[in-house]
Amino acid sequence: MYTGPADALTSNFMPHSDSISASTLEDLLEEARKAALHSYSPYSKFRVGAALLLTNGHVVTGTNVENVSYGLTICAERSALVAAVSQYGPEIRIGAVAVANLNGASSPPCGACRQMLAEFALPDAPVLFPTTDGQLVMSFSEVLPLGFDMKLK
Ligand code: THU
Repeated sequence: MYTGPADALTSNFMPHSDSISASTLEDLLEEARKAALHSYSPYSKFRVGAALLLTNGHVVTGTNVENVSYGLTICAERSALVAAVSQYGPEIRIGAVAVANLNGASSPPCGACRQMLAEFALPDAPVLFPTTDGQLVMSFSEVLPLGFDMKLK
């Protein structure tokens, strides 16, 4: 049963990001790169892929799907998120996130994607993304330090 934002953790076998090996994260990045090959981005030509490692052990990927209206475009990260919930249900928790693009550009997750991921991501989930200074890894709570939460006062 759905209990609300990701601080209510259930059935996790992977509670701490330091239990995720470097090779697992490298594989996750490769899955994100593969997902970017499916990008539908005729307007921006910016091909993005995202891969989520769920605490149930499954990896779910997504890519950006653009629209001629531009505003209806969905980012790779949110594509992966809706796919993950669709496939595994509302109790999923995200233990790691990888983002890649095929343009050799920087692409940290946008603000909307961070807020959406916050619903399911563990605070210490590593988030990997490319920057102009190379690949970065930050915890989810570093990537979104003060996301909206109705419990805040
Ligand atoms: N995009 C993503 O897929 N993820 C982000 O976090 C930011 C931007 C996509 C949306 C659009 O298709 C293209 O990149 C250019 O903004």
